[in-house]
Amino acid sequence: MGSTADHLYIKPVSLQSCHTFKFHHEAQLCVEITDVSQLKVLVHQGLEAPLVLGEGSNVIFTGDYEGHVLLNKLKGRDVIEEEDAYLIYLAGGESWSESVVWSIEQNMPGLENLALIPGSVGAAPVQNIGAYGVEFKDFCVAVHECDLVTGLCRRRLASDCDFGYRSSIYKHDTSRDVFITGVELRLPKIWSPTLSYGALQNLSDDATALEVMQEVIHIRQKKLPDPYVLGNAGSFFKNPIVSNAQFQDLIKTYPKLPFYDLGDSGYKLAAGWLIEHCGLEPMREGDIAVHTDQALVLVNLGQGHSDDLLKLAKRIQDRVHLMFHVALEPEVHFYQGRGVWYPL
Ligand code: FAD
Ligand code: EPU
Repeated sequence: MGSTADHLYIKPVSLQSCHTFKFHHEAQLCVEITDVSQLKVLVHQGLEAPLVLGEGSNVIFTGDYEGHVLLNKLKGRDVIEEEDAYLIYLAGGESWSESVVWSIEQNMPGLENLALIPGSVGAAPVQNIGAYGVEFKDFCVAVHECDLVTGLCRRRLASDCDFGYRSSIYKHDTSRDVFITGVELRLPKIWSPTLSYGALQNLSDDATALEVMQEVIHIRQKKLPDPYVLGNAGSFFKNPIVSNAQFQDLIKTYPKLPFYDLGDSGYKLAAGWLIEHCGLEPMREGDIAVHTDQALVLVNLGQGHSDDLLKLAKRIQDRVHLMFHVALEPEVHFYQGRGVWYPL
């Protein structure tokens, strides 16, 4: 690395404060990105195995990272008011949950069901964040990105992002060398609350966006551990999707199994219920445990090690498969060495 960008570098660092599971692994180098022009300088100087991080609330380090970690600290928000909608630009390093609160405070409803999801705006398109019947893709117009191989920036239309349930083009291996610098959202002025998700059905149809947001925050705080207090990465596994035939077999044996009918695409099952009822004992490995209020969340009780996390996750997968013949796929991203890997 040359000297022109030396002021950008922190130094080889512990990754403990860069991800919410708080494991004691290290990275060769961490750089805080506060301006897009820094990316071009770094690309020119030669980045090694770059890994972009927001708040690290969906990543697991299972060993040291032998590459350059880029921490997204790009800030800024813009609004253009059109006749029928608000067009919003959010810089990638903004906090997602703070941006949701800000949008509601500005009387721009739409994002309330996605309140209190940890992490940065720039990570929201990566797994197409979703909660309570709404997904990021429902509002996304375009994603602004910088290619970490060429240094070129582009605007990718939402229709080219391949958004799906907890997935997007940014999860494909071919699209990993990309730094998302910001997103464009469209919030229509004609608004009505989305209350289809079971937990929100107590609200009345004339609930305001603020009331919906407050309810979502209330429900989340009851079930989900605060990642900045108790290490975790939210849902560890995706909710599995099974065929109609497999679903009919399962529901006969387990009539209380929660499910979502996806029409021709099959049935989505609640992985948390499967884990809670799979008979795994103990639900713990060292200081890594299944969260008591939400079995889909694994937590670091303090001194947890990534080896124990992998062991517990594997035991859960095996046990759920043995009991229900359902495969659980991780939702989180695993990193060590020079990139992403797939240990489970
Ligand atoms: P990171 O963990 O830093 O990164 C995640 C992935 O995105 C990594 O592969 C990283 O390389 C990549 N990435 C991050 N930023 C960029 C960028 N700018 N450019 C390119 N790639 C990038 N998710 C949901 O969908 N719904 C929920 O309800 C939900 N609830 C959660 C609750 C808790 C308690 C926790 C801890 C997590 C929850 N999550 C949920 C998961 C997490 O909040 C989201 O995945 C979030 O978008 C991660 O943001 P981050 O900035 O922490 O990303
Ligand atoms: N359930 C159990 N036991 C558990 C957990 C859940 O029986 O331990 C049951 C609940 O009673 C409910 C059903 O499973 O009937 C669904 O539970 P919940 O509403 O908590 O949602 P989830 O399916 O466990 C998903 C997302 C969450 C998102 C919520 C709300 C995935 C993998 N997870 O969880 O997203 O916040 O719905 O929409 O899709 C995340 O991605 O990190 C995340 C937290």
